Amino acid sequence: MAKDSLTVTDNRTGKTYELAIDNGCIRAMDLRQIKSGAEDFGLMAYDPAFLNTANCKSAITFIDGDKGILEYRGYPIEQLAEHSTHLEVAYLLMNGELPNKSQLEEFTASITTHTYVHENIKGFMDGFRYDAHPMSMLASTVAALSSFYPEAKNVRSKEVRRRQMIRLIAKMPTIAAFGYRHSQGLPYIYPNNDLGYVENFLTMVKSIGKQNWRSHPALVKALEILFILHADHEQNCSTTATRVVGSSEADPYSAVAAGITALYGPLHGGANEAVLRMLREIGDKKNIPEFIKKVKDKDGDKKLMGFGHRVYKNYDPRAKVIKKACDEVFEVTGKNPLLDIAVELERIALQDDYFVQRKLYPNVDFYSGLIYEAMGFPVDFFTNLFAIPRTVGWVCQFEEMISDNDQKIARPRQIFTGQRKRDYVAIEKRG
Ligand code: SDX
Repeated sequence: MAKDSLTVTDNRTGKTYELAIDNGCIRAMDLRQIKSGAEDFGLMAYDPAFLNTANCKSAITFIDGDKGILEYRGYPIEQLAEHSTHLEVAYLLMNGELPNKSQLEEFTASITTHTYVHENIKGFMDGFRYDAHPMSMLASTVAALSSFYPEAKNVRSKEVRRRQMIRLIAKMPTIAAFGYRHSQGLPYIYPNNDLGYVENFLTMVKSIGKQNWRSHPALVKALEILFILHADHEQNCSTTATRVVGSSEADPYSAVAAGITALYGPLHGGANEAVLRMLREIGDKKNIPEFIKKVKDKDGDKKLMGFGHRVYKNYDPRAKVIKKACDEVFEVTGKNPLLDIAVELERIALQDDYFVQRKLYPNVDFYSGLIYEAMGFPVDFFTNLFAIPRTVGWVCQFEEMISDNDQKIARPRQIFTGQRKRDYVAIEKRG
């Protein structure tokens, strides 16, 4: 069996080097020894946007992008979506194993205990404009939580980190719901700790004037499935942001706030909002060919939002589950007319060479917005519905990063392309 190593020859010097291959990777630092001369800093790897760079070793989530496989701690997402709950999945992601009955009860109780936020958060929320974007409110308020729990700075204590993980998972729905109520000009609804995680959230968002108002069970189930599907997704943009900020030993609230702001972008979690706006812009199936042409002509940088993925070069397995969940929701809410446009858009795109050659398939964001709209959420709230469940992934990835002896403060290098060694010129002498 050939050795797990790479032999490279530096043609500048004729020297040969042997680099170890571990888990399909070479260590970038092993390149540093390759120098063109005594003054040379040594080779680096240039990889903008980390297209081909493993930033960490992780045991949390496995993705096979070519086969469209997604597993949380080894469990296929399809099975978890069918049989599990968001809090059970949160326990699995945090602890590596599915809980037994008493473990799940204890974990659920620990989350329930922390659903309330400090009363001052209401005053903080009231400071936002009526039309503030919910993601801006969520990111700011989560960052502010850092000031309410100064113990969180003790990131080297596993017990302290665990408490903040629980608080973040528990409070995210409350903060998101408060942000929704603020933007609707409605009074805040406090958590009802007799309710399940998802039902509690929907009640805090939707209940108006009825003490025992409850969301339709089919909608609770659909949102439960969506929360499970969004819980983690290995080293995506927002998780990387959380890991990088956490690597400076900033507290988990500050690191997760960075994750929220990264998720806000339309190329990432903001895509579910952008998909709905795109479908509304298309307006009718007859307009699809013209829209597709604009995308292919890259007219005004138009993209088919909800399509494409850095890792999946096949159908995003989550999109399949969400598309199926649409049916259950529409039985209750009535069919969303935009679904026909989305289905026709998918049909046309999957037959068009432009998309086929680039391996562009529907991703998690393509159908989710149709459900959120059918459930009565405003479009600008959709990414909040992504951030709430993804909090589990962010805190688990933070925990794995801070516990990993391989990790230290993230500080990439650069290729310098600027000017050097210029002398200062007095303003009178400048052109
Ligand atoms: C999420 O990473 C994760 O795991 C993220 C996520 C998670 O759970 O955390 O899965 C959630 O963010 C899903 C992605 C949501 N974003 C969108 O739906 C926005 C639309 N998609 C694209 O912007 C794009 O596909 C990305 C950002 C998702 C991925 O971009 P890449 O991997 O950098 O690919 P690229 O931009 O280099 O595209 C390669 C080619 C280009 O064409 P050419 O230059 O070769 O001619 O494909 C084209 C792109 O123009 N292309 C698209 C397209 N996506 C890529 N063309 C039209 N529409 C699109 N959506």
